[in-house]
Amino acid sequence: MLLLILLAFSISSSFSNSDSDLSAETCSACSCMSIENVLYVNCEKITVYRPTQLLPPPSSLYHLNFQNNLLYILYPNSFLNFTHAVSLQLGNNKLQNIEGGAFVGLSALKQLHLNNNELKELRADTFRGIENLEYLQADYNLIKYIEKGAFNKLHKLKVLILNDNLIQSLPENIFRFASLTHLDIRGNRIQKLPYLGVLEHIGRIVELQLDDNPWNCTCDLLPLKAWLENMPYNIFIGEAICETPSDLYGRLLKETNKQELCPMGIGSDFDVRMPPSQPDSGHAASNAPSTIAPLVTKAPKTTNPSKIYGNGIVAGIPVGKNGQIVSYQTRIPPLSCPQPCTCKAHPSDFGISVSCQERNIQSLADLVPKPPNAKKLHLSGNYIRHISPTDFQGFEGLDLLHLGSNQISTIQKGVFGNLTNLRRLYLNGNQLEQLHPEIFLGLSNLQYLYLEYNAIKEVLAGTFDSMPNLQLLYLNNNVLRSLPAYIFAGVSLARLNLKNNHFMTLPVSGVLDQLKSLTQIDLEGNPWECSCDLVALKLWLEKLNDGVAAKEVRCASPVQFANVELRELKNEILCPKLIARPPFILTSATPVVTSMSSAGVGKAPPGGPVPLSIMILSILVVLILTVFVAFCLLVFVLRRNKKPSGRQEGLGSQECGSMPLHLRMHHHKSMPCGKY
Ligand SMILES: *[C@@H]1O[C@H](CO)[C@@H](O)[C@H](O)[C@H]1NC(C)=O
Ligand SMILES: *[C@@H]1O[C@H](CO)[C@@H](O)[C@H](O)[C@H]1NC(C)=O
Ligand SMILES: *[C@@H]1O[C@H](CO)[C@@H](O)[C@H](O)[C@H]1NC(C)=O
Repeated sequence: MLLLILLAFSISSSFSNSDSDLSAETCSACSCMSIENVLYVNCEKITVYRPTQLLPPPSSLYHLNFQNNLLYILYPNSFLNFTHAVSLQLGNNKLQNIEGGAFVGLSALKQLHLNNNELKELRADTFRGIENLEYLQADYNLIKYIEKGAFNKLHKLKVLILNDNLIQSLPENIFRFASLTHLDIRGNRIQKLPYLGVLEHIGRIVELQLDDNPWNCTCDLLPLKAWLENMPYNIFIGEAICETPSDLYGRLLKETNKQELCPMGIGSDFDVRMPPSQPDSGHAASNAPSTIAPLVTKAPKTTNPSKIYGNGIVAGIPVGKNGQIVSYQTRIPPLSCPQPCTCKAHPSDFGISVSCQERNIQSLADLVPKPPNAKKLHLSGNYIRHISPTDFQGFEGLDLLHLGSNQISTIQKGVFGNLTNLRRLYLNGNQLEQLHPEIFLGLSNLQYLYLEYNAIKEVLAGTFDSMPNLQLLYLNNNVLRSLPAYIFAGVSLARLNLKNNHFMTLPVSGVLDQLKSLTQIDLEGNPWECSCDLVALKLWLEKLNDGVAAKEVRCASPVQFANVELRELKNEILCPKLIARPPFILTSATPVVTSMSSAGVGKAPPGGPVPLSIMILSILVVLILTVFVAFCLLVFVLRRNKKPSGRQEGLGSQECGSMPLHLRMHHHKSMPCGKY
């Protein structure tokens, strides 16, 4: 019986493995529901069927939901015959790659949701065939690269949600042919937005979300600042906070002045003087009164302008009869908000973002009432000294926690233990001196960890081991002199920032060679001591893949190399001993801590020179042994040729065979075999 069941099971599973054989009516494989002549097709978690195996419903218009289906790759023509789909949900899959032409055939599609996947890039052919698209959501992916022209055919694109990706810059003219009204690029790696090629094309915007990017507040940001200042009041713009240069760190872009941004005045004046947008006649923004109510939506009394898009994304509803996006009003208003803070709804995941920056908060216990489903908690610029595990009760769903620029000097064990969803943690600008493994226990999903501008002088072994998903680690502007061996063995960092510390050297073996997934490392601003210890680092830097950005490493000492770039020094000059000594001594240099003080400079590498007397003695032993063995062999061969007598032969070999041991103890004696 059991056997039969097993057999049946294996047959059915092998059957479902062969793709082409299997196909089904969509509404028999999925659940379908009709509301006002529009069909809602729910194919969530039907992992046995690929989209190509479903026969599209005959209904005139329908919404397709393919969430949670473990889709890894979308092949071309995956949705070829779904010509009447108006929305497509592909969120929460494992999509890593969308092949060109995957969406061909979806000619009626207005909304596409790709959130919470593992996409690394958006290519020029990714959105081919869906020229009617108005709404594109791709937040919470790993998008680092957007190809030029990716949105060129999407002339109707109004809403673009790209927050929480790894985008470093937007290609030129990326929005030239779109007609964006809402753009969300929060939580990326963008440092600047130029006017030409980017801002000039988003003149119809009513909402622009810029928070949580490492804005580089230099002359290059003057155009953005000028553009933001010229936007009408009723346009919602998120906050751009400077990350670099260090003297503007943490400042709001809008509160900097032109002189600070660009002391030398080398910014392009042309850029700065450009009007932000030509308010076209159809656009109500131009002479609207100074209310903050959003314009596009009819929603009357929203107190929070950031909620103008992002409704019913999960339900996929808001496409009206005439095909327009009816309303992007968030349905769930924040129920409660801690007294000194402001809360806004995060449209794409229904989470709440709680902003409590610079509110004189001294303890997290003051934060009541706590909103349910808080996803982001901003507490930078307060006076928090201590945090305790109970502070985060009710905040278990946090995705981002910003504790930057407070006065935290120690963190107890397991404080973040229940924040298992946390992806970004900001602890920069505090007074931490030591990092140890207990601090980060439980942060199993953390991807970004910001620890810059503390007073960290020590990192204990295993500190990062509880965070296997860590990708970005900022330890710059601390006072580190060394790192323990295998500190990076448990993580696969893409970005590591160690600049402006006190490193004089850094071992390759056991430390840097553990960094297998690196895309950028910053080592500048350390007092590198350009001597033999740095040869391994130099070789390692030279071997890094071309794609890895590593900024210059300049010597601080010895004096003759001060301010010289490491890569310009030949190995023999860096380490004159190299000529005299075989190179293996250097590559096998100590993998463990090199806590360098100026006193430790001239120390001999382990396994260096051996006392002369021992060396001579051992050479002697080897010599005698060789001669002895040769002699024995000779004798043995001769005897064997002469007299093939078993007894004597056995004796002879026994004698000689036991000799080496003998010899080891009495090598000064004459060879015993010689007595024969
Ligand atoms: C789409 O429909 C055409 C004909 O209507 C059919 O030949 C083709 O196999 C279908 N393609 C897919 C992928 O279902
Ligand atoms: C910021 O911009 C300036 C000027 O373009 C540049 O020199 C500097 O390297 C940038 N900083 C970072 C961190 O990229
Ligand atoms: C963490 O979560 C567990 C399980 O929900 C709970 O028992 C514990 O009290 C929480 N710890 C803190 C400090 O909130």
